[in-house]
Amino acid sequence: MLIEARLGGRPEGAAAAGAAAAGAVVRLGGDGTLDPVRTRVVLDWVQYRHSFRPPVLERPVVDRHAVVEREVAIDLRRLDEAGAASQVRAAIQPGRPGTFLEGWTPLSGSCIWQFNSLYWQELELWEKVAGRGYVQALPGGESGGTDRAATQATIEELFAVWDGLTARRALPEQLTVLELGVGNGEQAKVFLDELAALDARRRCGYYRRLQYLMGDYSPHVLERARHTVTDHGDRVSTLVLDAARPRTTLRFLDGKVFFVYISNVYDNLPTDELAVLDDVVYLVEVRAELCPDTVDELAGVLAVEPQELGPLVARLLRLGPRLLSETLPGTFADETAATAFWQRVWGGLQLAERYVQLGPLDCYEIAGGLSGGVLPHLADGYGDVRFHASNGAIESFLDTVPLLHPLGSLVSHDLFVRDLAEYRAGFRGPGKYDGSVVNWVNGPLLQTLAGRRGFHVELSPFDGQSRSPIATARARARD
Ligand SMILES: C[S@@+](CC[C@H](N)C(=O)[O-])C[C@H]1O[C@@H](n2cnc3c(N)ncnc32)[C@H](O)[C@@H]1O
Repeated sequence: MLIEARLGGRPEGAAAAGAAAAGAVVRLGGDGTLDPVRTRVVLDWVQYRHSFRPPVLERPVVDRHAVVEREVAIDLRRLDEAGAASQVRAAIQPGRPGTFLEGWTPLSGSCIWQFNSLYWQELELWEKVAGRGYVQALPGGESGGTDRAATQATIEELFAVWDGLTARRALPEQLTVLELGVGNGEQAKVFLDELAALDARRRCGYYRRLQYLMGDYSPHVLERARHTVTDHGDRVSTLVLDAARPRTTLRFLDGKVFFVYISNVYDNLPTDELAVLDDVVYLVEVRAELCPDTVDELAGVLAVEPQELGPLVARLLRLGPRLLSETLPGTFADETAATAFWQRVWGGLQLAERYVQLGPLDCYEIAGGLSGGVLPHLADGYGDVRFHASNGAIESFLDTVPLLHPLGSLVSHDLFVRDLAEYRAGFRGPGKYDGSVVNWVNGPLLQTLAGRRGFHVELSPFDGQSRSPIATARARARD
């Protein structure tokens, strides 16, 4: 039996529970409940207060339609030494079923992304019912994009590029900056305030020529962000767009954008997870389900049969909470009641998981026509490792960089894994923030695929916040 511990730097809290949990699994191997030869155990410390994982999860490993192994994944944060053995034993036995909301799918195809999108579209309602704003749920309770010192340094670099072009009489009249995934607009405000201040001190007239584009897929978020930057009104335009495919809307700006700013968005875009076990690459397939306790609770509160919950959730995702309450006034008195339902569903949402052998890697598309052929080289030397394909982030990156002016750059503050070894050291998602999904971004894979398109990506710790898990990716075209 192979036992792997990924304690994420928390050995003090995890060691005792880990030993008890591992001991319990080993005993289950000894008494024949589990096959010790075909069982692996992963002990994680899941740092997110909320995630899609039950405390103990069994993952079948499927090779060519047959289950060849099982992985027992244990979240040590939610076990204590005294109860660990009984919790592990109870979870391994067949228990009360939950309600499945979908069939098996790669993570990027799961309905959790519909929940994620709904959250940003209906942020106002969610925040009203939850009683707190989304920024409080970000790592450290604030967005990296609002750090003034880092923003000033970025603007100094931008001015240096513009100064150089001015000297060569090559500076276009319009100076375009693009922000993707704008949230409450606070980082746009810091950027615009700082740019205007530096411009006033230096008297270079760049602010007057600035066109700051804010792109987001949520009209509500855009409206909120626009309100935050009212002082810069005529310098700012807003656009509804998909950050994963910005050129669908912005192709007319190819080669014209001097700076792209994208913070805490890549970690919010759909991704698959992959796992290498004994040198074989597996796709992690998931199946969203409502846990049994939530099924019981909601069936009771709404006075419906448990089997009616799946269709109700599907209807919520299709219509949103406002229309849901309008179409079912007998079940949901108003949009607040429908939002409370949405929040309970989100709270009780779990992902069943299985590993399915991936087959020819050239047939697996990561993003933008680039295949998984790079994966063996990337994962070589890391042993058994599970990591993100970061499909949405890489797709977004590859579809954004053609917009850049030849001297332009892209800066992203986000939860980047900078070395694949980090995946072996701790849990990197998916986690739940309020109503949205968070996954760390596979930096080495982004760097490799960006390189294939002629871009150099540098990953560094986020300036100004040494304890923050956020890192910065800076991308420029290779010389
Ligand atoms: C976590 S917030 C980050 C906001 C802000 N940049 C910050 O750092 O605070 C994620 C933002 O990305 C937007 N977003 C998520 N997925 C998107 C997509 N596919 N297309 C466009 N915007 C998206 C959300 O609406 C939200 O405004």
